[in-house]
Amino acid sequence: MRIDASTLDRQASHELLKGCVSPRPIAWISTLSAVGVANAAPYSCFTFVSLVPPMVCFSVEPRLDGTKKDTLRNAESTGDFVVNLVPEELAAAMNTSAENFPPEVSEIAKAGLTTAPSEMVRAPRIAESPVNLECRVERVVEVGQNRLVIGEVLLVHVRDDLYRDGTIDVARLRPVARLAGNEYCRLGEVFELDRPWLRGVK
Ligand SMILES: Cc1cc2nc3c(=O)[nH]c(=O)nc-3n(C[C@H](O)[C@H](O)[C@H](O)COP(=O)(O)O)c2cc1C
Repeated sequence: MRIDASTLDRQASHELLKGCVSPRPIAWISTLSAVGVANAAPYSCFTFVSLVPPMVCFSVEPRLDGTKKDTLRNAESTGDFVVNLVPEELAAAMNTSAENFPPEVSEIAKAGLTTAPSEMVRAPRIAESPVNLECRVERVVEVGQNRLVIGEVLLVHVRDDLYRDGTIDVARLRPVARLAGNEYCRLGEVFELDRPWLRGVK
């Protein structure tokens, strides 16, 4: 099979790319609207893009009617957001929060969740999520029809039992990841590959 990418419309491109770039970690982004409504939605076009300073990014498609999603609008107006990680037990709530509620409705409450105040940004954290990254919007980049939101990570909250050797104990966190369509996956068997050429290198 050969697929000429120039023949793909938005939906076909979305399905194909989601399958090619899989599994994807899910950033559950919480923001605050200009009038103070807490918002949350999952974004799986998500990764880190800088180490010093630490930065992450996520990409926002326009809605089908061409309007901006609430997360983008809020991040642009307040200048900040929080990335909340999604362990298996929060998968159903994360899915509920993906519904396109009007801006005055809080997906956090709709999903049966609560907020916790952040310390360095205005956007609240999702209290039930065990890892939260408080981020300040560094820039928003136009990429095709999407907007890539790049944020500097200012403060990371990690539940104590999930912090090990300077990182997250991912096997214990058990994050869910997105595939294509409505499919998700759990963490499977974890294995290591030695890198002999790095022995002794710090
Ligand atoms: C697991 C998952 C991942 C998603 N990833 C993205 C994404 O990377 N970019 C995007 O624009 N929409 C993504 N969506 C769709 C948004 O979550 C959805 O449009 C949501 O209603 C946006 O809410 P908001 O208007 O409150 O920002 C994803 C949905 C799910 C369920």
